[in-house]
Amino acid sequence: MLSNACASKLMLFTLSITFCFSSRNKLVTHYKQYPPNTSKVYSYFECREKKTDPTKLRKVKYDKTVFYGLQYILHRYLKGQVVTREKIQEAKEVYREHFQDDVFNEKGWNYILEKYNGHLPIEIKAVPEGSVIPRGNVLFTVESTDPECYWLTNWVETILVQSWYPITVATNSREQKKILAKYLMETSGSLEGLEYKLHDFGYRGVSSQETAGIGASAHLVNFKGTDTVAGICVIKKYYGTKDPVPGFSVPAAEHSTITAWGKDHEKDAFEHIIKQFPSVPVSIVSDSYDIYNACEKIWGEDLRGLIEMRSADAPLVVRPDSGNPLDTVLKVLEILGKKFPLIENSKGYKVLPPYIRVIQGDGVDINTLQEIVEGMKEHRWSIENIAFGSGGALLQKLTRDLLNCSFKCSYVVTNGLGVNVFKDPVADPNKRSKKGRLSLHRTPSGDFVTLEEGKGDLEEYGEDLLHTVFRNGKIVKTYTFDEVRDNAKLKESELEDLLL
Ligand SMILES: *[C@@H]1O[C@H](CO)[C@@H](O)[C@H](O)[C@H]1NC(C)=O
Ligand SMILES: *[C@@H]1O[C@H](CO)[C@@H](O)[C@H](O)[C@H]1NC(C)=O
Repeated sequence: MLSNACASKLMLFTLSITFCFSSRNKLVTHYKQYPPNTSKVYSYFECREKKTDPTKLRKVKYDKTVFYGLQYILHRYLKGQVVTREKIQEAKEVYREHFQDDVFNEKGWNYILEKYNGHLPIEIKAVPEGSVIPRGNVLFTVESTDPECYWLTNWVETILVQSWYPITVATNSREQKKILAKYLMETSGSLEGLEYKLHDFGYRGVSSQETAGIGASAHLVNFKGTDTVAGICVIKKYYGTKDPVPGFSVPAAEHSTITAWGKDHEKDAFEHIIKQFPSVPVSIVSDSYDIYNACEKIWGEDLRGLIEMRSADAPLVVRPDSGNPLDTVLKVLEILGKKFPLIENSKGYKVLPPYIRVIQGDGVDINTLQEIVEGMKEHRWSIENIAFGSGGALLQKLTRDLLNCSFKCSYVVTNGLGVNVFKDPVADPNKRSKKGRLSLHRTPSGDFVTLEEGKGDLEEYGEDLLHTVFRNGKIVKTYTFDEVRDNAKLKESELEDLLL
């Protein structure tokens, strides 16, 4: 019994690699469900916008999303010959058992194998990677390019909608960048160092290596600090950058490298570690026993001379890692501020000398981040003093519902006739979907608008921002990571709005 269950799990696993573009079994039976003589299915992806119920205002509205990650999926799962005789055979056998019936579309897959040598006859159009687009606009469309393969459009839904994850990580990380930009500007008058203010600590807190790679790359769209090296590999392999690496890190202690010295030797541990790394920043977790004693006695007295010798390029970075994040940060700053000579910056905020900084990497999500920087500002501490690390909240504590990512059919051709289709469930007007063929445009005032029912008029609205990225098994347009970053960077107008 057990070995059977394991065997079938293994089978499904292989299957999801081979027919990786869909494991949702209900889609397997859909080819039998469309109206007879359907020759095209056209669907689109959007992050739905909430139109009703303004009472449940969330703190962070996420009113724009960063489009990122489709290119990875296309390269990894959809391009080239993805259908083979063996895969069809394997799928056929598994689905026969799974449904206890012969519902698998063997004929359809054989057609793709024979006519297209296993390449997928679909076309995908998408906004450029890194684009920042208001919720409620089309982000990509998918259509079948062969009348026999109308069913393929929604077969690929499962794998394509997984782009919700990099979109959501990149969007949430960018919202945090906005918070940091606002407070950094207000408390220091400059955005220097912004790209290093939120470091990715999430590697061990994610569900898999693949999640780590995709999620970390999505964070790097907005920032340059990461400990999740898998993201660097994803970027180099699927996007490419002009720099040798798109993300950086610094030597850092962890509890084991401190506690291994024994409770009475925390000072020796600290001293040893800072001496190992004299010319780069070094982050030292200082809460193994008593963070306040560590700041006051060890850093502030015993090792003070050693720290004062460090340069602005190689500061000691003190890392508390427990307690209420805001209270701890404030108390650590206060102690360090008594032991080291404070500077008042041009905005009138307190700054520790450049050879010592703080990083808070415990309990950091978008809400606590906001609380900490607000609390620091209230206590007249500049955000120059601090950087943040975020792990689970950055890469894992997110779901598809945060941005309401959805994929819906909006147009079909049946008996040679194009029909605009949509859904409009009576119980939830937010779930109404768009109708017909779609295009995305910028109005002269710079707003984005999705035109429905194929009404896109070049004369009036200018070019369609959706570009063909995939057609019949080939990737026809790609973006470098530098382009992605450039598209997603904070715009002047956003900074102005933040500082209002
Ligand atoms: C499908 O097309 C065939 C051939 O044109 C036609 O005879 C048949 O009536 C159509 N079926 C439906 C349900 O429209
Ligand atoms: C988005 O998803 C949330 C959570 O499922 C739901 O409460 C909300 O109504 C959805 N909004 C839209 C616009 O679909």
